Amino acid sequence: MTYSAHFRIWRGSAAGGSLQDFDVDVSEGEVVLDIVHRIQATQAPDLAVRWNCKAGKCGSCSAEVNGRPRLMCMTRMSVFTEDEAVTVTPLRAFPVLRDLVTDVSFNYTKAREVPSFAPPEGLAPGEFRMQQVDVDRSQEFRKCIECFLCQNVCHVIRDHEDNKPAFAGPRFFARLAELEMHPLDTVDRRKRSQEQHGIGMCNITKCCSEVCPEGIKITDNAIIPMKERVADRKYDPVRWLGARIGRR
Ligand code: SF4
Ligand code: F3S
Ligand code: FES
Repeated sequence: MTYSAHFRIWRGSAAGGSLQDFDVDVSEGEVVLDIVHRIQATQAPDLAVRWNCKAGKCGSCSAEVNGRPRLMCMTRMSVFTEDEAVTVTPLRAFPVLRDLVTDVSFNYTKAREVPSFAPPEGLAPGEFRMQQVDVDRSQEFRKCIECFLCQNVCHVIRDHEDNKPAFAGPRFFARLAELEMHPLDTVDRRKRSQEQHGIGMCNITKCCSEVCPEGIKITDNAIIPMKERVADRKYDPVRWLGARIGRR
């Protein structure tokens, strides 16, 4: 069964742009990315859109659909009524390059700021063992496909460009938690999380967890435990006393 849908797609560049209207056929079972591709094939060949896998695994096709950050390839047309206009706009937290394509290099900069996994020196192959419970815990964070929907929706940077230098964002809090909870990682990431990555600026709104297509409980399983570890380190009375004595 086919029907005609009304799409509104943002077109433009860093200099500015506007919504452009399209009427386009939709068939049963199609997703938003199929329709964007049909528009590109039949009405707007120069429409810029980033995608790759069409299977919810590459994290490329992130956009805002009717105001909600989503993967276009995983958003079925059946979630909208046939007479509902579908508005597709680029991610708002990152600079627009063209049409639906944004410059997400902020995230790569933040990724490079997280020190990599550092196992104890001299650990031979075969001595590298973990309990299943530790494997399971980091497995959740390793499902991340780096779609950056969580980064896009977090109000700390979405509404405040000037916070970007000091704030790594939820995706990288999950990475920090993954490494901090790894039993063989030797780097103490608690002080860094506070001072270099800005975890204190997160006020636990949980919007990041709500939009994650992998269902990662970013706030509950990464950010809150990391905040607790940061607080433990900061307010541990033994450490506090040690620091006072050390200053004398
Ligand atoms: Fe995307 Fe979830 Fe990874 Fe954030 S944590 S980048 S929302 S997959
Ligand atoms: Fe932002 Fe998620 Fe915290 S949306 S404020 S990082 S809970
Ligand atoms: Fe790969 Fe959508 S095209 S996640």
